Amino acid sequence: MTDQPAENEGPIVPFLRIGPPPDRTRWEGWQQWRRIRDTFIPAPRLSLRQYTDLSPRRRGLHDLHRTATHVNMRLQETPMSMRVSGLMRGRLQNNALKVEPGTRDGLMVNGGGFQGKTETACSAAAAFEDLWRAVQRQRLPEQPQDPGTRDVFVPVAYCRLPVRATPKALCKTILDVYGDPHPNNLDGLIRSVRDAVRDHETTALLIDDVTRLRLHRGDDQDTLDLIRELMDLNVTLVLIGVDIPHSGLLRGAYIDPRTKQWVFPDVKRGKSHNEAASTQTERRFDMVDLDPFGYTTPAGISAFLDHLAGIEEQLRLFRSFDGMLTTGEMPEYLFRRTHGIVGLLRRLVEDGCTEAITSGEERLTPELLARTSIRLGNLADLDPDAGEIPEIPQDIKPPQQPQKKSKRPRNTVFDDRGDRPAADG
Ligand SMILES: Nc1ncnc2c1ncn2[C@@H]1O[C@H](COP(=O)(O)OP(=O)(O)OP(=O)(O)O)[C@@H](O)[C@H]1O
Ligand SMILES: [Mg+2]
Repeated sequence: MTDQPAENEGPIVPFLRIGPPPDRTRWEGWQQWRRIRDTFIPAPRLSLRQYTDLSPRRRGLHDLHRTATHVNMRLQETPMSMRVSGLMRGRLQNNALKVEPGTRDGLMVNGGGFQGKTETACSAAAAFEDLWRAVQRQRLPEQPQDPGTRDVFVPVAYCRLPVRATPKALCKTILDVYGDPHPNNLDGLIRSVRDAVRDHETTALLIDDVTRLRLHRGDDQDTLDLIRELMDLNVTLVLIGVDIPHSGLLRGAYIDPRTKQWVFPDVKRGKSHNEAASTQTERRFDMVDLDPFGYTTPAGISAFLDHLAGIEEQLRLFRSFDGMLTTGEMPEYLFRRTHGIVGLLRRLVEDGCTEAITSGEERLTPELLARTSIRLGNLADLDPDAGEIPEIPQDIKPPQQPQKKSKRPRNTVFDDRGDRPAADG
């Protein structure tokens, strides 16, 4: 049988995005993402009966929409992400509102791989931008937004440090956000970055995967100096990375016992690219950790259960039931499979749902998930040397089924199994 175009059945795939996902590291892509970020429409909830009454084609499309729903689950607030995004939004706003020129306190977002650093930081920055644009609209009623225009308003610039970053590479990455050309030499590049940040009125510069710097080479020290100097551009620098404290990024820095901030003394290498830097005495960063869920305190467990309930509510499986993810052995099993890391949990649930649909089981059980391995997709995009690939727990057996069906399994959620301590509350 061949697939016939069936225009007569109308357009019924509103959930499909046309073209590749937006590239947030270019201003146009960031704008596109910022606008569509909360607009995905999940599949309608159909009963099995309603589903079987559909035509085969409609059923296929509904399955596609269900799958799209499972792979586009929304970002949920967690106590850990709320702490990071609250601090970040507060910092971005305060700094943006400061009138006098000068160094702005920066922010470092630290956490293990796949714990949601990128998504949490981007969504906090986008929320800030929504607000900031609304305020600025009164000032800039008609904004030119054509690519190539010098004065495009780019309040938030997001970029990712390339693997083995050099100062030149960092400058080019930043210039690429604006689509600006790359001058040939380092001084020209740095000047262009400073001009771009100023001309596009950027108030927040996010540098993701900052721990890709290898700080034992001369190049890397230059990059580090450059990053610190970027803080003098009236911009709030947000550095995001895995295990920042052990990355060498804090070399020469100390913690101010009064404010608990990291303080970088002035760059004393006599090679500062920024004349203004000579008038600066120090640059300050707050460090905020994005931790995984914990399973050792009632507050930690209850946050994990809330998160699972939020996931369950988004699933479209015909044999799911209330408490499918939050009762019985399931929460503990999910915790052991993922160590409470949101990104791993998401992958496990996504792949589990695919299996539940293809096998016709249409519900998630520990036994089904035991057949599902956690795949991290495009690993080529990650830098294992920078700790970006989390350790995935292996060989986690599903809980033993009780011999007699009548005996209800004891709820072991609150048992302390001595799993590794992590964020609680
Ligand atoms: N609060 C959340 N709720 C639901 N899903 C989340 C949440 N935070 C992150 N995720 C999901 O977890 C996955 C990993 O998130 P993200 O890429 O932000 O992690 P990361 O810490 O930046 O990882 P890496 O170290 O690889 O850069 C993504 O698929 C993301 O959508
Ligand atoms: Mg990331």
